Amino acid sequence: MKNENIKIAPSILSADFSKMGSEVESLELSGADMIHCDVMDGVFVPNITFGIKMVADIRKHTTLPLDCHLMIVNPEKYVEKFAEAGADYITVHYEACKENTLAVLNLIKKQKVKCGVVINPDTDPRVIKDLIPHCDIVLIMSVFPGFGGQSFIESTLNSISCVKKIVDENNLDTLIEVDGGINEATVKFAKEAGANVVVAGNAVFKAKDRKDIIARLRTL
Ligand code: DX5
Ligand code: ZN
Repeated sequence: MKNENIKIAPSILSADFSKMGSEVESLELSGADMIHCDVMDGVFVPNITFGIKMVADIRKHTTLPLDCHLMIVNPEKYVEKFAEAGADYITVHYEACKENTLAVLNLIKKQKVKCGVVINPDTDPRVIKDLIPHCDIVLIMSVFPGFGGQSFIESTLNSISCVKKIVDENNLDTLIEVDGGINEATVKFAKEAGANVVVAGNAVFKAKDRKDIIARLRTL
């Protein structure tokens, strides 16, 4: 994978929620490729963030793709609303949808939004093997979802490689996204394993210079 193909998706979970418009504008000016929106419901994960209105409001502040990571139960109830709000990608957890996952992916596609499945660090990637050809993107969690600022779980590199192998064997152009604990030290492992989109929350928002860290994450 050539470095220029690596997309950087800063997570606004680490932003100052009281000034989200300018935070998103700053990410665009700093060279972000997409904006990662972490939607949490307090049920699927032990944290609550924001929902449809936040996505609609930030849509007015950027032309970058909005990558909506739904950490919620029954995501099918809200897919249409997130699409209307301006989501470009909607990803749903396999653990939240189980045997219903393909139907939810199709519902997302029906809204003309790119779709993807997400797996937690302890989910065997082989369970989504048959779903991958239906996905525009597969998101592999490298931390347990719920909070920013956690440490990258190294065993998830096996999941990334496994998904990469399935994508290559089937000649797919599915994006492979990795989320959680990405920083200057861990980004290269994720890339080597096959990631071509990396999410970064704390690494970007705690940096003195956002432009610099985004460029470094892309090229390291
Ligand atoms: C965790 C979220 C991540 C998180 C990443 O549940 O899905 O997107 O914001 O934050 P960092 O990069 O700080 O681990
Ligand atoms: Zn996320």
